[in-house]
Amino acid sequence: MLRTVILAAARSSRVERLVETAPYTRDVVRRFVAGTGTADALRATRELVAEGLRVTLDHLGEDTVTPEQADATREEYLAVLGALRAAGLTPAAEVSVKLSALGQRFDEQLAYDNARAICVAADAAGTTVTLDMEDHTTTDSTLDILTKLREDHPATGAVLQAYLRRTEADCRDLATAGSRVRLCKGAYREPESVAYQSARDVDRSYVRCLNVLMAGAGYPMLATHDPRLITIGEDRARWFDRGPDGFEFQMLYGVRPQEQARLVAAGHTVRTYVPYGDQWYGYLMRRLAERPTNVVFFGRALVSRG
Ligand code: FDA
Repeated sequence: MLRTVILAAARSSRVERLVETAPYTRDVVRRFVAGTGTADALRATRELVAEGLRVTLDHLGEDTVTPEQADATREEYLAVLGALRAAGLTPAAEVSVKLSALGQRFDEQLAYDNARAICVAADAAGTTVTLDMEDHTTTDSTLDILTKLREDHPATGAVLQAYLRRTEADCRDLATAGSRVRLCKGAYREPESVAYQSARDVDRSYVRCLNVLMAGAGYPMLATHDPRLITIGEDRARWFDRGPDGFEFQMLYGVRPQEQARLVAAGHTVRTYVPYGDQWYGYLMRRLAERPTNVVFFGRALVSRG
């Protein structure tokens, strides 16, 4: 119920204005978002890499409705990849890209062309690109673009969402040599016809998908903060003899940082997903929808006087 309300608020421009202009939201936003510019992204990356973490940078920008906005997003990715390379932060840091930010909603070819330019720049910087996954109406288009990108850039990664009924089959298709797959639960509000609705069914699906990926020939990226799923991931890594080069855990910036450090200390590869940019509102609302305690924390900051 709360999740539905927050996800509805995520689409409300009135709530957005309220949140963006509230005087004390900055600290809360900073917990989950590295900052607004390239320099902020680099600073956060440097700090995390110094702690033994890998990074994937996400430039926030989901409301792309014109080719000019899509071009601007592409240019930001090219700039940040150049800056990462110059700072010696590749291959420890890569980038995550939302095709909607590159024009997918109104021109699939444009989104492909933009994504391809980013893959070329990532190759030149000695690192990789992972395509984020958005709501289920975009899954086929995103996987089609992935297939085309992988012809020249085989290390391009995909995200699969365990809440979708189709995902176990998609995992089988993508569990092949050289294929990088990030498995997450899924963050959008989806109808029952395409997605499991209960947390229990989503978790079960996650485990089935994880089994397929860990048993397969690709490179699994287990994106979750869920202690039970992390334990199962560690167990399967032992079972399938996958060391730190054979799979990785991934978590979001600001979420369970101690657990991220614990996994690094245990010898695992751990990558932190670091969002930055001025369009942080939708991202922040999805994080709040996931965890009621985050809402309490955020609500307090909204009304707090310091
Ligand atoms: P969930 O939110 O169900 O939490 C399970 C348990 O984890 C909790 O009960 C608690 O024990 C623990 N936990 C979670 N948050 C905690 C916190 N703040 N503090 C302490 N404990 C906490 N989604 C999508 O649709 N498309 C995408 O492309 C991506 N990309 C992506 C990349 C990466 C690297 C990550 C980590 C996640 C995504 N996601 C995503 C988001 C994903 O789908 C999902 O919404 C969130 O990761 C939350 O799901 P969890 O698996 O963490 O479990």
